[in-house]
Amino acid sequence: MPSTETDGSRSFIAAWIATILMLVTFLLGLLIFPPLYEAPKVGPSGTVLFIGRFHPVLLHLPVGVLGLLCLFELICSTRRGEEKFGDASLLMLIVGSAGAVMAVFAGIMLSREGGYTGGNFSLHQTMGLTGTAGVLLALVVRLMAMRRESAELLNAYRAVYFISFGIMGLGAHFGGNMSHGSKFLTEHAPDWAKGPMVGMEKWLLGFVEKPKEEKIEEKAPEPPKVVIPAPKAPEAAAKANPPPAASAPPVPASTSGDTKLVFQHVIQPIFVAKCNKCHGEEKQKGELRLDTFEFTMKGGEEGGDKNIVPGKPDDSITIQLISSAEDEDGHMPPEGKEQLTQEEASLIRWWIQQGASNTQKYDAAVLPAEIKAAAEAIVKG
Ligand code: HEC
Repeated sequence: MPSTETDGSRSFIAAWIATILMLVTFLLGLLIFPPLYEAPKVGPSGTVLFIGRFHPVLLHLPVGVLGLLCLFELICSTRRGEEKFGDASLLMLIVGSAGAVMAVFAGIMLSREGGYTGGNFSLHQTMGLTGTAGVLLALVVRLMAMRRESAELLNAYRAVYFISFGIMGLGAHFGGNMSHGSKFLTEHAPDWAKGPMVGMEKWLLGFVEKPKEEKIEEKAPEPPKVVIPAPKAPEAAAKANPPPAASAPPVPASTSGDTKLVFQHVIQPIFVAKCNKCHGEEKQKGELRLDTFEFTMKGGEEGGDKNIVPGKPDDSITIQLISSAEDEDGHMPPEGKEQLTQEEASLIRWWIQQGASNTQKYDAAVLPAEIKAAAEAIVKG
């Protein structure tokens, strides 16, 4: 078959330069911003955080372009197809790889915000990186194949490419789980698909969630820890302190200079640190706000006034959601986000047990020994 090329073998200099630049960027980038699986030790710069927020935008480029390339590669698997569309495929592969490299680094920068842990995150990061490395390798093989006009190399390239894109796609899915919740994709799946999908997810998560048993063991001794001293039952607390919750007038922050209050100085700071990114003034996930006492008691979309039931922590939705296992549906804070410490959870439970008061004074409150130090630390800031 006559070739339209006059010089037989082409050299693809521009494509090689782009490829080498990408490889160097990828490797250097990983040295400067290594992927972490635990909280970063040093706080990130503002620029890093700024760029990180582009991750959810940037990732669409490689997903789209490399997805389309799958279709092109099917066409290119015939000799004529490759002759017609080989160059277009190469261009897509280069653009898609560049997009993947950018998305990877924006992702790593985003993770520096902290709070990204858990199985979904580990798999997302690992598979995103592996998939991108694989696509870069595929690009090198494709260039070699095109230069040598080797059908075998082209086939090898396609194998590497499809596997890498598959890994990347799965990794992207676990990223989706992080932002939309673990059930997002499978929730409405027909039964025949749901089983295999959930099974596959569990199997993959099993590789990165080994510490699970430990976690449960750690959690086991929790109940005795939060046992509240008997005399501090709600009625007693109500007598010892001004009447709780509902009827209590809100205390303006300005008068609290020397009198520290349990809600304002112990409980609210916990909400601010761990909840209000999603339940504050700007965002109200589940229609719940936790940034004032009134909003906290009003509750959210589903829980309503059951969000906090004064004197009855076990009936309070908040306690149910923060005490469930991290990977359980509805657990708060959502899986992968910075979790409450055991002391913080116990403090919230204790506060509700005491009557969920807005006016209870910190100095007059009798805290169980296990949580006294944690409360002290929060009050001192
Ligand atoms: C990363 C975001 C995020 C963080 C952080 C977070 N939540 Fe949520 N929360 C959500 C989302 C999303 C929902 C809605 C879940 C749903 O509709 O299934 C929700 C729902 C709730 C609800 C149920 C509201 C209702 O009545 O429907 C409670 C209670 C709750 N969160 C408490 C907390 C507490 C307490 C914290 C901190 C310890 C916290 N959340 C931290 C995202 C978050």
